[in-house]
Amino acid sequence: MFDRPTFISLSPNVQKDDFYIAFKLIFMPWKWKKGKDIVELEEKFKNYLGINFAYSFNSGRSSFLAILKSLELEKESEILIQGFTCNAAVNPIIWSGFKPIFVDIEKETLNMDPIDLEKKITSKSKVVLVQHTFGFPAKMDKILEICQKHNLILIEDCAHSLGAEYNNKKIGTFGRVSFFSFGRDKIISSVYGGMVVSNDSVLAEKIRKIQNEYKYPSRGWVIQQLLHPLLIGTLVIPLYNFFGLGKVLLIGFQKLRIISKAVVSTEKQGIMPKYFPRKMPNALAILALNQFKKLETFNNYRQEISDIYKRELEGAGFQLLKMDNNKTKNVYMRFPVICNNNDSDKILNFFRKQNIFLDDGWRKSVIVPIDTNIEKMKYIKSSCPMAEEISRKIINLPTHINISLEKAKEIVKILKRI
Ligand SMILES: Cc1ncc(COP(=O)(O)O)c(C=O)c1O
Repeated sequence: MFDRPTFISLSPNVQKDDFYIAFKLIFMPWKWKKGKDIVELEEKFKNYLGINFAYSFNSGRSSFLAILKSLELEKESEILIQGFTCNAAVNPIIWSGFKPIFVDIEKETLNMDPIDLEKKITSKSKVVLVQHTFGFPAKMDKILEICQKHNLILIEDCAHSLGAEYNNKKIGTFGRVSFFSFGRDKIISSVYGGMVVSNDSVLAEKIRKIQNEYKYPSRGWVIQQLLHPLLIGTLVIPLYNFFGLGKVLLIGFQKLRIISKAVVSTEKQGIMPKYFPRKMPNALAILALNQFKKLETFNNYRQEISDIYKRELEGAGFQLLKMDNNKTKNVYMRFPVICNNNDSDKILNFFRKQNIFLDDGWRKSVIVPIDTNIEKMKYIKSSCPMAEEISRKIINLPTHINISLEKAKEIVKILKRI
């Protein structure tokens, strides 16, 4: 009854030190909004990526909104974005008055297919947003070539890929401008948070001004984020199996707005919540800085867990991603497995019975989470057949720091049994 369940999401990167920092910050309201830690985080990012400019925001969504504003594109401009993405990547395009055009993905990498990209370019195309899905770098040489040929601006969506590399160059340094996310289940996490990086001094100056214009999020919003790791770690997960109390608490805390959701229901209908766009608040920069110190440890551990999955699942009848390992360093935010049938519900139910919760929302829709209104996202049905097929067949395995090596072995055993 008190068996601690295993989750793929729910603040998966939080360790004891992160927990205590969040706890202490609750009692330090003077550190919540302004503070020196914001600049420190931006400096750390610049040094890590070897890039000239970095500006923080309260999310990947706000970061992308700031980028789109800085580009000063004509209304109705088309922005090419891959199918099999999150509504959090599509919505900023819609909220800014532009048109997303969906490009199909490659089966081997779940990233934008360069061949389909070229087919979807029109005279209104202005930007390519390239996503490095689950930490696996997209084919940057081909995509850069296409952008140069057609005079398109390249933006990298690095929400999943902090630390990944392509041809020994850090992901995030290929685009004219790029953004990262520190969402709750990203590579590093401050529950909410994001960063824009660029080497383009003219664009960077515009982004700096936009960051200045944006307000800080409210104190209520900051405290919601600080409470997230605390309540999830002390109540929700430990009580999950105690007559389902943990789940009731999770829903209750979210309904009462004591903790936040990653994506709220109105966003699934293309409506912008009022806490976007906003600056990064100092309290969350403190959380992100502490996680940033552990970036290499996290990513090495993800690699170690993924090696177990790879070893055990190769030749076992599943499709695993195929990367050109001479070119890419992957960071495995998740370990995707493409099943042979469309019944991921059945597989996830089976895992649930073993006290393992693997539903991270990245399935059953070309634009996730599941019940996103894809018409409102301007997706044209059948325009990305591979993305549609993958979304029916994918399940993701967890790779985060709180999954033990034994648990990873247990997960593959169960999967093989199914
Ligand atoms: C691919 C992708 N892009 C962008 C975002 C937006 O990041 P954030 O949640 O920090 O707004 C997300 C995450 O939700 C994402 O998965």
